[in-house]
Amino acid sequence: MIKADCVVTGCRELATCRGPIPKRREALNDAGLVENAWIAGCGGRIVFVGSEEEFRRTVRPEAGAVTLDAGGLVGFPGFVDAHTHLPFAGSRANEFSLRIQGWTYQQLAARGMGIRSTVRATRAATREELRDLCLARLDEMLLHGTTTAEAKSGYGLNLADEIKQLEAVRDAGALHPVDLIPTFMGAHEIPDEFRDRKEEYLDLLIHTIVPAVRDQSLARFFDVFCEEGVFSLDETKRLAEAALSAGFGLKIHADEFVSLGGTELAARLGAVSAEHLIAITESGVAALAGSETAAILLPNVPFFLMQDKKAPARRLIDSGAAVALASDFNPGSSMTSNMQWVVQLGVFQMRMTIEEALNAATANGAYAVREHDDRGSLEPGKKMDLVLCDMPSLADLVYHVGRNPVKHVLKEGRIVVMDNKVVYNGRVVRDDRVASSP
Ligand code: NIG
Ligand code: FE
Repeated sequence: MIKADCVVTGCRELATCRGPIPKRREALNDAGLVENAWIAGCGGRIVFVGSEEEFRRTVRPEAGAVTLDAGGLVGFPGFVDAHTHLPFAGSRANEFSLRIQGWTYQQLAARGMGIRSTVRATRAATREELRDLCLARLDEMLLHGTTTAEAKSGYGLNLADEIKQLEAVRDAGALHPVDLIPTFMGAHEIPDEFRDRKEEYLDLLIHTIVPAVRDQSLARFFDVFCEEGVFSLDETKRLAEAALSAGFGLKIHADEFVSLGGTELAARLGAVSAEHLIAITESGVAALAGSETAAILLPNVPFFLMQDKKAPARRLIDSGAAVALASDFNPGSSMTSNMQWVVQLGVFQMRMTIEEALNAATANGAYAVREHDDRGSLEPGKKMDLVLCDMPSLADLVYHVGRNPVKHVLKEGRIVVMDNKVVYNGRVVRDDRVASSP
């Protein structure tokens, strides 16, 4: 008999997202749906997914096992949000008002707003303040079903403040059930004090900050904003090579506004992912098709920036790229951490199917941070990160736009959201029943 210390009974529909990962082409359209599913875990990992009858034959719950009745609920794996800029301070609501009046993101950036204004606020914040901002945001994420999130620095842009951001991520991750995967993004922008000395900033990154972040094991990945007016293709390549030789996995913000060849470079260098891809060209699509480099699409960005152009999700999927969906949570171009909304945009604005969008936000999200052996799908051996929703069917996750259906969340087999309340470390931390939309 299989031992279990956590049992979830009678899920009406369970989208397991199981199967070989990354999911490409038709495989992305299969959510691995199981009806009337029972799930069991032991030590935080899944040991069983199947019918009640099979459960009773093969699983023996230990005395005192956590049991949750999921009668009538719909379940899926916790979202893996593979692209966020979580540890930022300040707000850009003022700038947002200007954008509503017609200013573009690039015009604002050229006038010292944009990323550089968040840099000023983030430099002024203490490590503890940043940690607390992260913790509050992680509660929001968890209440909407995210159980793992990547978190990029890149609002410090000097040694001390980049390290402070990454330490805040580490501190928050140690206190909160949502797992955080840190990415060093000192190459997010050229800081004001190096505005006319970009070459010196590249030197500082390559020779001082990259080695320091590596020596303190503060990040797994390195990311760079390859974009007109930020880092050129050649500069991106130099930075990427330095990061790879320091042992970081590589991610590239590529083809967000202007195509510079960042996607092709990402594939050529064996990057873990190329991210954004709104302005990707046919050669970029060809470079990602069948490559190991994941295509992380961020549909809230063109929505939030009120741009008509979207990343060509269908073209990427149909050509065999490993497509993931993520929030790009940041104060300038994507002020949301709600992965349900990202899934909805994947369907409404990029013509993905519901199954494709869900797989892209879970299994392929995990692939895009190279965590797919551990999480992102509900199958024996993986972490028991499970979201249970009060909704009639999986389709309602998209069909009922803007409603948060999440009722319970389990993280590694422990209940961390119960009846819409965050409840970790045995305490009710946050009650969102009143705040959540009807
Ligand atoms: O992914 N593109 C660069 N970075 C972010 C925006 C960050 C900001 O505006 O603060 C992005 O869109
Ligand atoms: Fe980003």
